[in-house]
Amino acid sequence: MGKRNTKGSKETYREIDIIDLKVAFGSFYALKGVSFFANKKEFLGVIGASGAGKTTVLRILTGQIKPTSGQAFVGGYDVTKQSRLISLLVGYVPQLEHLSLYYDFTPLQNAQFFGRCYGLRPKEIEERARSVLTILGFDEELITKRVDRLSGGERKRVSICLGMIHNPPVLLLDEPTTGLDAHLRHETLNYLKMLNYELGTTMVIISHDLEIVDYCTRVVLLEDGEISQFGTPEELISTLPGKGESLRVSLHALTPEIMRRIQAIPEVQYISLSGRNAVKLFIDDPHDNFLPIIHKLNEMKLPFEGVELVESDFFDYFQVKPWKENGIGGTIS
Ligand SMILES: Nc1ncnc2c1ncn2[C@@H]1O[C@H](COP(=O)(O)OP(=O)(O)OP(=O)(O)O)[C@@H](O)[C@H]1O
Ligand SMILES: [Mg+2]
Repeated sequence: MGKRNTKGSKETYREIDIIDLKVAFGSFYALKGVSFFANKKEFLGVIGASGAGKTTVLRILTGQIKPTSGQAFVGGYDVTKQSRLISLLVGYVPQLEHLSLYYDFTPLQNAQFFGRCYGLRPKEIEERARSVLTILGFDEELITKRVDRLSGGERKRVSICLGMIHNPPVLLLDEPTTGLDAHLRHETLNYLKMLNYELGTTMVIISHDLEIVDYCTRVVLLEDGEISQFGTPEELISTLPGKGESLRVSLHALTPEIMRRIQAIPEVQYISLSGRNAVKLFIDDPHDNFLPIIHKLNEMKLPFEGVELVESDFFDYFQVKPWKENGIGGTIS
């Protein structure tokens, strides 16, 4: 009923489809016409600074607020017209896990509370919780330990299990890695990737952390309520000069003056910092320009230790922000 047939460009099924979405709070537009999609089983990262509108997107997808204009579909269903169905299709993991967890109870007991809200039977809930928690690396001891005695990363995983308790095809996570140390951030992302792989769950992950991009099949960059970029990490990185490759120059020391002189080399379109005393140069045809650049550096009497051809990564892309200056466009299709 009311299902919309949304197909991606390769006839793949669009699990999430957001079309020219605008959300106004009074006269302020938190979202100013946002469009993006995720196919089934994708791992979509929504990245943006504080206030960019990330949580507002999730609140639309969970049906908590209505758009001012535009449309949002989950599984082909309009989120504004099928709210009961949407709550079954979408799992939600809030930013602060204490909003979803009862600390005096064990993960299994927490799952019972949550599962009952979806009308599931206790036996079903236990089976589902055990299978999700096992994928999330929990053994019998952790499954039956009180939440207040679990570590931060373990609590985060319990809260992910609660979002998954009704077996939703889509899981929305609001900053699942914020507040965790580097090791736990990667551990949590690896577990999410495992769920995505084993259960086929489409993941939408909000973050202001570029680290998540390594895990994502597609990325949305939100800036002040607008999408500045949308595409696969590879598509976005390949819009840089060098199409995914750059020249890394190691120096004895890196000063603002040296940076300015390197930037002034005509072939060099952008530079990014790469470690303490190195920069990456983004130029067209870095293979062909490898030797000419070395000659140039010698001519300029710039004391460098080495030059190598390296891959460009998303951190470079985000430092350089090619879309800001020359308007290399997004890749929404
Ligand atoms: N209910 C509301 N009433 C008025 N303004 C709101 C409301 N909710 C959000 N906003 C504003 O909309 C903008 C986007 O908010 P949102 O919560 O989506 O940002 P965010 O990208 O999730 O930021 P953060 O990374 O800090 O969580 C902000 O400027 C915020 O102040
Ligand atoms: Mg937010």
